[in-house]
Amino acid sequence: MPNVIAVRHPLVQHKIGLLREHPISTKKFREVTQELARLLAYEATADFPLETATLTGWCGPVEVQQLSGRKVTVVPILRAGVGMLDGVLDMIPSAKVSVVGLSRNHETLQPEPYFERFVGHLSERTALILDPMLATAGSMIATIDMLKRQGCQDIRALVLVAAPEGIQRLYEAHPDVRCWTAAIDSHLDENAYIVPGLGDAGDKIFGTK
Ligand code: URA
Repeated sequence: MPNVIAVRHPLVQHKIGLLREHPISTKKFREVTQELARLLAYEATADFPLETATLTGWCGPVEVQQLSGRKVTVVPILRAGVGMLDGVLDMIPSAKVSVVGLSRNHETLQPEPYFERFVGHLSERTALILDPMLATAGSMIATIDMLKRQGCQDIRALVLVAAPEGIQRLYEAHPDVRCWTAAIDSHLDENAYIVPGLGDAGDKIFGTK
């Protein structure tokens, strides 16, 4: 799908491989997740505009390139997306944080928000949605729906592993939203877990289970 960018950088490939080992400690899973989040943020912001400014340098005036005031909101999807947050904020320290929590309605089977807190001026911001696993893409699509309803026009997703089924659904629902992923895996199992995947990313990040 043209909207999904599988990041082939050797550091990304190496680090996603580290996360696949079983068993893995919470400490290691968390650390490598944050490292990958930094690298994905680097890739996903490669087209941010720059402007020239003149500063006083150590030997007089010097021309430098500066980000031209692009406003960003980072949007971790609870719970696992929180595991990528600090890594992205390391790269974009001035970004504001919006938070979305979704649960599945047992009758409709659709994701429904139980928590949403968006920062202001979303129509002027780039949104970077964080969720380690793009499985069925239900939560991702619902989050994008919410951001679009708030007026956000530039929405990007950062995930560690994507399943082909989720990629297809994301493209059908929101072809304008690009998604950067460290890996595209084989398929979903009967419980909608990604194969080979990482297991339950939230449990591994939070040390539950
Ligand atoms: N969520 C996870 O944590 N892992 C998957 O494989 C799918 C969804």
